Amino acid sequence: MKFSTRAERIEPFYVMEVAKAAQAMAREVAGTREPMIFLNIGEPDFTAPPLVQQAAERAIRDGLTQYTNALGLEPLRERISDWYATRFGVDVPARRIVITAGASAALQLACLALIDAGDEVLMPDPSYPCNRHFVSAAEGKAVLIPTTAEERFQLSAAKVEAAWGEKTRGVLLASPSNPTGTSIAPDELRAIHQVVRAKGGLTIIDEIYLGLSYEEQYSHSALALGDDIISINSFSKYFNMTGWRLGWMVVPDAMVPVVERLAQNLFICASTISQHAALACFEAESIAEYERRRAEFKARRDYFIPELNKLGLSVPVMPDGAFYAWADCTQVAHRLGVDGSWDFAFELMRRAHLAITPGRDFGTADTARHVRFSTANSMAQLHEAVSRLQRLIG
Ligand SMILES: Cc1ncc(COP(=O)(O)O)c(C=O)c1O
Repeated sequence: MKFSTRAERIEPFYVMEVAKAAQAMAREVAGTREPMIFLNIGEPDFTAPPLVQQAAERAIRDGLTQYTNALGLEPLRERISDWYATRFGVDVPARRIVITAGASAALQLACLALIDAGDEVLMPDPSYPCNRHFVSAAEGKAVLIPTTAEERFQLSAAKVEAAWGEKTRGVLLASPSNPTGTSIAPDELRAIHQVVRAKGGLTIIDEIYLGLSYEEQYSHSALALGDDIISINSFSKYFNMTGWRLGWMVVPDAMVPVVERLAQNLFICASTISQHAALACFEAESIAEYERRRAEFKARRDYFIPELNKLGLSVPVMPDGAFYAWADCTQVAHRLGVDGSWDFAFELMRRAHLAITPGRDFGTADTARHVRFSTANSMAQLHEAVSRLQRLIG
């Protein structure tokens, strides 16, 4: 069978190989004194809170299951608009909010709406692997720019200026980032936006982890910078609804009808049941629960990252959001007699029954030195993981 060159261009997720191996090993060691601990998880270990579950049940019972408008349920767009006002102090009218099937659909719609064949999009290395594939699926080219710890593993205005070429269409950023959990410094983001604007380009920013932000200075939406910012968001992370497939994006007014046309054709709409359920996310009781969970994620970070550093798994920038840590494993890997983050991940799996994610999928620059730890696991499991690491490499 012949497949499209577009499809062939999309690389596989290498982490899935690691995840599969971890699952196989988990079956082997289940019931032993050291069952597998999963520190490779990219989603919250919490589920939707009671009010949201009840709203979903009610929607099904009441037969609220037909298609919605392609842009999403009006009351949900209004609720998200209010959320921007109360949480981030930014005025985002509901008419610029488009409800999507997760951030994934939002990113696809944005790429399809804005990128022509051959257009280049600048993004940091490391970054979320799907981003370069979304660009590629739209016939564009992702240009990965190596970043440093000093830059918080994010793009800088100077690097954007230097990398800008004839075919550059814009930047695709994520703040906080997956895999580093680090945000773009506010002044740097402003400077990047100014460079991009001066070039007549696009600033697309994935703020899917912004709700899980732990430090005031990084807790602000880029939407405050101007109406030309395209912000991607989701109910997956802060709202703990990964499998419900619901997200949104905020786009400039002129882009709304274009995205509407694409969404009508490609998706019809996001899940109606999930949209009705998501209305309950913004009830005071639900928000209080999300805030408790955010505090729990922060407590895990505050415990786990210093422990990694003590073990020589150096995390050069303290994550300020999300539930990831980007650790340099070079020294520790050497001590264990292996070379590179890929082999190190398998060694940890084999000898300590810990599943982590090697850097490989996230870019090419320094990814052989780095692994991603996820703290989307209970404090008890994190304690046990640290004691196993201490025994192995301490
Ligand atoms: C940075 C980033 N963007 C987008 C996504 C996709 O999220 P969604 O479940 O909303 O499609 C993820 C999922 O892990 C992510 O880490």
